[in-house]
Amino acid sequence: MEVIRNADVEELSALCGGSCSCATCHVYVASAFHDRLPAMNEYENDLLETSEYRTQESRLSCQLLFDVTLDGLAVTIAPQE
Ligand code: FES
Repeated sequence: MEVIRNADVEELSALCGGSCSCATCHVYVASAFHDRLPAMNEYENDLLETSEYRTQESRLSCQLLFDVTLDGLAVTIAPQE
């Protein structure tokens, strides 16, 4: 989330600042990266359940800590609710 926000991508509002309480950082992660992502916790899953745009590729970007294992990560910002 911070990487996207620091790139001034306005479509990602990330209103709660990364505390996993708003779901406005919803992104779709390319399937090629799924095995490199941290497991989804209960809070992230519950928030995504409220989204009409949830897909198998949905994640909250604030829950994806970026490090070298995610180098080249491709995401698409989900539509805003
Ligand atoms: S920034 Fe609010 S849930 Fe991710």
